[in-house]
Amino acid sequence: MAKNQLNIGMVGYGFMGRAHSNAFRKAGNFFPLDYDIVLKAACARSADKAQAFADNWGYESIETDWRKLIERKDIDVIDIASPNDTHKEIALAAAAAGKMILCEKPLGRNATESEEMVAAVEAAGVKNMVWYNYRRVPAVTMAKQLVEEGRLGRIFHYRAKFLQDWTINADLPQGGAALWRLDVDVAGSGVTGDLLAHCIDTAMWLNGPIVEVSAMTETFVKERMHNLTGKVEKVGIDDASIFMARFANGSLATFEATRYARGHKALYTLEMNGEKASLFWDLHDLHRLQYFDHADEGKLRAWRNIHVSDGDQPYMKNWWVPGLQIGYEHSFVHQVADFVTGLGEGTTPSPTFREALQTDYVTDAVLKSARERNWQPVKQS
Ligand SMILES: NC(=O)c1ccc[n+]([C@@H]2O[C@H](COP(=O)([O-])OP(=O)(O)OC[C@H]3O[C@@H](n4cnc5c(N)ncnc54)[C@H](O)[C@@H]3O)[C@@H](O)[C@H]2O)c1
Repeated sequence: MAKNQLNIGMVGYGFMGRAHSNAFRKAGNFFPLDYDIVLKAACARSADKAQAFADNWGYESIETDWRKLIERKDIDVIDIASPNDTHKEIALAAAAAGKMILCEKPLGRNATESEEMVAAVEAAGVKNMVWYNYRRVPAVTMAKQLVEEGRLGRIFHYRAKFLQDWTINADLPQGGAALWRLDVDVAGSGVTGDLLAHCIDTAMWLNGPIVEVSAMTETFVKERMHNLTGKVEKVGIDDASIFMARFANGSLATFEATRYARGHKALYTLEMNGEKASLFWDLHDLHRLQYFDHADEGKLRAWRNIHVSDGDQPYMKNWWVPGLQIGYEHSFVHQVADFVTGLGEGTTPSPTFREALQTDYVTDAVLKSARERNWQPVKQS
């Protein structure tokens, strides 16, 4: 029997436009979905670039204005894979048009924008989800299962870092294509909203709400040439951000992100220490979960290095045979599969806009704490 179609309208053809398009194409091949996912239209401001992207990924058509994309009756889902300053305006218009919305993170440039986005999708009653994809790396999903099964017991510590090294060169300009992350007007913040947002989302998913933070940030290169104005301008983003946090469950945390850690490209690690057990995960070795269980027999007690590739482990029965691993792109495939499965079941898989807003409350509190050099309570959604 023919399945219903789910027609995708993609905004943006960059890093995430590619990651999402790949996921939309693969999800139905590996997961039993109630819908046929159709790449209906790709939208970018340049017709040539939009067409080249559409041809490469198999989109049926193009648009050069996202407003036109939203007006189209043959689009069910608007996927926002464009820079942060576009998220709110596109999401508000898409919600008003009754479209389902998948939005890249961070939801808004700050929590005020995100609150408007949450209000819009909830008033319109449209399905919504944010691409915090690391939740769906099988080893991270398995960490969630171990925590929920109570295997770690009471949690004492959470530790996360996300380190890169691509903005150390003081001659690197800010702004425009590819370098919008250095322009605070477009990005909203630096590594706090970019890298730490991922760490915070995973942390709260695994360990519950963060209630207060104390942070410091630094902008190491204070001025950079701006690609759009051609002038040397003040840099408004945080290049590095470090904060301490207290969770509602009483556990303590440290978080660190920077783009100035020479040698590290995307070193996202997380660790949890509980009364009974600990776990550790590293994006550079993403299919492995390190797990230490104090209940193991004393002479054999040690960190287990679990290769998460068995059919009993999250998502893996849909891929190859035990022992063969998957990678980064598959976290997006899993997110698409979960979203579309949720449509069939009438549920909205997390994280919703409202859940992602909570991450923005934390990042806002981190930036305020760094500015004011004090502890800040975190608003709860
Ligand atoms: N989930 C993740 O792990 C992850 C990773 C990277 C980026 N992101 C997020 O994804 C979003 C996009 O980041 P990216 O790395 O793909 O950026 P990118 O610079 O690679 O691509 C951005 C795309 O948006 C397009 N664009 C800009 N303004 C537009 C407009 N008005 N209309 C249509 N298209 C427009 C650009 O032409 C480009 O194709 C950001 O919000 C970013 O924070 C998330």
